[in-house]
Amino acid sequence: MKHRSTVAAAIALGAALALSGCSTESEQPALKVSGAFMPQPVDDMAAGFLIVQNSGGSADKLTSVTSPISDDVTIHETKSQTMREVKSFDVPADGELDLERGGNHIMFMKLKQKPKQGEKVSVELHFEKSDPIAVELPVKEPTYNPKKHEH
Ligand code: CU
Repeated sequence: MKHRSTVAAAIALGAALALSGCSTESEQPALKVSGAFMPQPVDDMAAGFLIVQNSGGSADKLTSVTSPISDDVTIHETKSQTMREVKSFDVPADGELDLERGGNHIMFMKLKQKPKQGEKVSVELHFEKSDPIAVELPVKEPTYNPKKHEH
């Protein structure tokens, strides 16, 4: 038993180290972002929402978000109507990570400027395995809440 778990750990380590190069396509996460938006902020903080789809055969994690409009960008989950910062969000293999109103979100504090409806906010999503993805969040009205997306 001990031997088996050591082997599993070694395999997991090997997979984590194979960031680029030789491993086969299907073992890599393949991420695509859709449905991104930011409700127009009403004070000096804002939230961002988007969906990260992973069509690859390997899970990834969203580990951080950066943006020129704030030096204090974190990722939050909402449980029982209380939000709290998390270290990462899972992006499951052949699945998706949903950041949507009332749930998980990107949190921008101490905004350097207040974006208005019709403008766009640049963010960069950072992942455990995949390369960073740059996304433009269109700014929507403060109450904007799209229906659950369709595939
Ligand atoms: Cu929050």
